[in-house]
Amino acid sequence: MHLVAASDEQQLQRDALTYSEWGKLLSPQGYAAREQRLRAHPWSRSDMRTWLLCGEDGEVLASCETFRTRSFLRNDEGSLVPGDSFAIASVFTEERLRGHGYATRLMDLLAAELERQPHAHAALLFSDVGPRIYARSGYQELPAWDWHLPPTPGNPGEPVDSLLREEDLATALGRLRLPEVPFFFWPTPAQLDWHLERGRIYVEHLGCSLPASVGANAGASTILWGLVGRSAELTVLMLDARSPSEAQALLEAARREASRSRLSRVVVWEEPSHAPLLPRLQGEGATRVARDGSLPMVRPLRPGLPLSPLLPTPRGLWV
Ligand SMILES: CC(C)(COP(=O)(O)OP(=O)(O)OC[C@H]1O[C@@H](n2cnc3c(N)ncnc32)[C@H](O)[C@@H]1OP(=O)(O)O)[C@@H](O)C(=O)NCCC(=O)NCCS
Repeated sequence: MHLVAASDEQQLQRDALTYSEWGKLLSPQGYAAREQRLRAHPWSRSDMRTWLLCGEDGEVLASCETFRTRSFLRNDEGSLVPGDSFAIASVFTEERLRGHGYATRLMDLLAAELERQPHAHAALLFSDVGPRIYARSGYQELPAWDWHLPPTPGNPGEPVDSLLREEDLATALGRLRLPEVPFFFWPTPAQLDWHLERGRIYVEHLGCSLPASVGANAGASTILWGLVGRSAELTVLMLDARSPSEAQALLEAARREASRSRLSRVVVWEEPSHAPLLPRLQGEGATRVARDGSLPMVRPLRPGLPLSPLLPTPRGLWV
């Protein structure tokens, strides 16, 4: 068995097979168009690949995708050294081929391939099938808790200093504090826009509208959000809340934006930096739930990569 990067034609052949798994709400043609559109997005074009595990006769046994994603390592002087990490998505084996270890073999060969990339730091994935299969290939799971907040009526701009528009994404991302851990992943503006592109594709199937804002500023704190997939929810992509009152203001704006856009709730992925601030929202109908799927798992691609238990995996990193 060997690993190859798929050609455009092979990518289309995989789309036809993965439709049954990831095509909900879309027709087969709509799903094929979604895949084409997401692959044409600037973030994907910067380095997205489909990988195939092939048998000796060339038959495709399993597939997955990688997106190159930025990461930073602190050196001994405390300076940040940028490098490349790889977010892995859409691991897939056709039903008739499952249970023969093909997905595991694919993950092992892929890790060996990624380890050979210059400046490689780590691989990141979000498992929908629990930790066991990926742990076999060296991935470690991280905590996965979500907060769900109900929408609330009102002007979203009122509780905050300003609401953000799409053209503000890069500036807003630049305002966020970087995590104080020895190694972390950090998205680019194009990467965050890729999530919004998914929302632009799904909005016509969901009976809601695209949120008019992509986040908000309150004091020194910043939140970025969007409609990002096939659930009519306002998903928080990044949150840097520097005080309880600023966290409250930003999330109040999110709840109002959800209401204005006819979305069913606000979803916040808990991160170590803002976890202590969120319980204060419980009186307002917020609930903390174990995440259903999307379990973050990380695998170092170089010896000695320091993986902190406090490594944040914001929703903006999901693929
Ligand atoms: C998950 C998947 C890629 C595994 O492919 P595979 O080639 O059969 O994988 P392997 O033979 O290497 O490993 C199979 C293991 O995956 C586990 N697995 C498969 N589907 C699972 C699920 N839904 N939940 C939990 N474990 C699952 C099997 O129980 C088996 O575990 P075991 O060997 O410890 O008993 C395949 O089932 C698939 O394509 N599923 C649909 C798409 C999907 O969910 N992909 C994963 C996205 S994170």
